[in-house]
Amino acid sequence: MLTATMSVDDYKRLLAELTTSGQRAFEAARDLEELEHARIEYLGDQRGKLREFQIALGTLPKEARPDAGRQFNTAKSTLTEAHDRRRQDLAPNATRGDARPADLSMPPRRQWRGSKHPVTLVIEEIEGIFRELGFTVATGPEAETEWYNFGSLNFPPNHPAMDLHDTLYIGDDVLLRTHTSPVQTRTLQKYAPPIRVLIPGRVYRRDFFDPSHAPAFEQIEGLCVDEGISFVDLKATLTRFANRFFGRRPTRFRPSYFPFTEPSAEMDVQCGVCGGSGCGVCKQTGWVEILGSGMVHPAVLEAAGVDSERYTGWAFGMGPGRIAISRYGIPDIRILYDSDVRFLEQVAE
Ligand code: PHE
Repeated sequence: MLTATMSVDDYKRLLAELTTSGQRAFEAARDLEELEHARIEYLGDQRGKLREFQIALGTLPKEARPDAGRQFNTAKSTLTEAHDRRRQDLAPNATRGDARPADLSMPPRRQWRGSKHPVTLVIEEIEGIFRELGFTVATGPEAETEWYNFGSLNFPPNHPAMDLHDTLYIGDDVLLRTHTSPVQTRTLQKYAPPIRVLIPGRVYRRDFFDPSHAPAFEQIEGLCVDEGISFVDLKATLTRFANRFFGRRPTRFRPSYFPFTEPSAEMDVQCGVCGGSGCGVCKQTGWVEILGSGMVHPAVLEAAGVDSERYTGWAFGMGPGRIAISRYGIPDIRILYDSDVRFLEQVAE
């Protein structure tokens, strides 16, 4: 307690001591609660120790007051600053004190960023290979006329593919294309040979959704028309493609039939699962069919206004969905349509 008869020197000495012990008290506070107790003890408005010195100022001789008052103000600001500094240190978001730097070597939490669909990956890879061989990419409408989808492609009237059971009609003459081949006609009408074009797109058939069928699926058409094109070009180009896409697995051509190609052939690649010995994926044959192909029928060239005496060509059509299934070992085609992220994660690149 300060006494009423204190000398100026005592006042100054005691005030200096108070300042030092207050600074120590603030520094020693281990948390905000302790600091608050110290603040009340030293800087409290009512009973704070400094408050007593303010009151005692009035008891000093008049001529000594200005000097002692200045010292009082200095002590007050010193203590206030010491308190505020400690408060910053102890604040919850303090970056000083014992805060440790981030450990940059720590592995980050894995983030799923999404990926392209496996069928899209296959289409893009096929496009890339054919682009190197001089092909450009074209597209055509999914709603087609009967003539483009069937007539121009040499389907005889009443061909079974035109049946209501096989094709989705959306008008008298308009249907959802059953293959990408009508874009052959559209391309031949639009551009003069030489033509080398790749046509990816969605096609529709009146099929049930089962493990190996879907009513809507992707196809990729290829068309090459020029002077002097022969079956050798077809075989060489498609074999080159298969070697690039499937690695050095053996391939074979089997005779087949399409109204719009003559001769026609289906291409198989050796089953990648069993290596040719026969398994469930290849239905014990050792081979997986990847595409249909053939020399463009002269009637198709003529229907599109191309001179079939001067030009010849070859074409193919394949299903990237089927290829994705064999490449990624997918047991059921319907998985491709589920948009299940857990599945996409497995094939993501
Ligand atoms: N359009 C045929 C189909 O959908 C495939 C094909 C295209 C065959 C081009 C030969 C030439 O099955």
